[in-house]
Amino acid sequence: MTQAFDPRTGAAGVDDIEAGDIAAMPAPRRIGGHTALAGVIGWPVEHSRSPLMHNFWLAQYGIDGAYVPLPVRPGAFDVAVHGLRAAGFRGANVTIPHKEAAFRIVDRLDRSARRSGSVNTLVFAPDGAIEGFSTDGDGFVANVEAHGVVVKGGRALLLGAGGAARAIAASLLDRGVALTIANRTPARAHELADAMRADADAGTMVDVAPWDALDTVLPGCDMLVNTTSLGMDGGPAGGLPVDLARAASTLVVCDIVYVPRQTVLLHDAAARGLRYVDGLGMLIHQARLGFRKWFGTDPVIGPEVEALLDADLRGERR
Ligand code: ATR
Repeated sequence: MTQAFDPRTGAAGVDDIEAGDIAAMPAPRRIGGHTALAGVIGWPVEHSRSPLMHNFWLAQYGIDGAYVPLPVRPGAFDVAVHGLRAAGFRGANVTIPHKEAAFRIVDRLDRSARRSGSVNTLVFAPDGAIEGFSTDGDGFVANVEAHGVVVKGGRALLLGAGGAARAIAASLLDRGVALTIANRTPARAHELADAMRADADAGTMVDVAPWDALDTVLPGCDMLVNTTSLGMDGGPAGGLPVDLARAASTLVVCDIVYVPRQTVLLHDAAARGLRYVDGLGMLIHQARLGFRKWFGTDPVIGPEVEALLDADLRGERR
């Protein structure tokens, strides 16, 4: 070799590169014809932590796969999904604002998706069909159970009536948990309650409480679940209208907000010695089903992935 080879600049000519130099070059990530592909469809999508999480698991298990952010504008969802299927993707996660469009596009709806009225996980089946799942509700329950709380029976006070509330409501009812739903806009709470009651199994297990009278219902509840954006960084100002001083000492307090991880609600719960569950684990657990369907391995949810996401959310890792 006539000239020093610099692997970063590639300053030498091709003829100057010897076999030994190749080992010193940055190793390209190998993506080939057999690489299993999936991604997350959203708009905007750059804040999604799903690529970090799925690519961590792919590396952890040595799987030949890749998971990419897929920025898709409103209105372009159907074209994008058919294009991904035609291009050989295994499937995709779906986030804001496309979860309802995903519900409409699928050929086969899983029960979880039917009950939550939205889809966050698409699987392109070998027979060409698009299958839709909603994993938020079961992800919520799995996370609570990972914190040592058995989710079975009892009553939960569910705050909020948006898409996340609906998915969680369905999963809680499936585990025999009765629900009291409260929302700032009462009509949405009633809509959610009606949608849940439409399933025969849910029958009489759902009622609605006024947003400004939660102190009367909280003492009779075993679990409190915040699905509103109150408490989230950059979210609306103000606090939740609940006074944990009125709660039973056995109340489990859950927040699906994960930025910050310890919301004002959870801080208050901790200060009162109540058990509490933050929202980061739900994000991880909801990802599990998609990973298994696309990449063929059920990822074990250990502390590493949680630490990785936590550091990323704090801006400690780029
Ligand atoms: P998602 O699908 O993520 O659950 P969403 O449909 O926008 O999102 O729902 C957000 C929830 O936060 C709703 O229950 C909303 O209450 P409204 O139905 O009254 O809008 C609740 N929320 C948002 N801002 C709020 C605020 N300032 N006070 C109380 N609730 C609020």
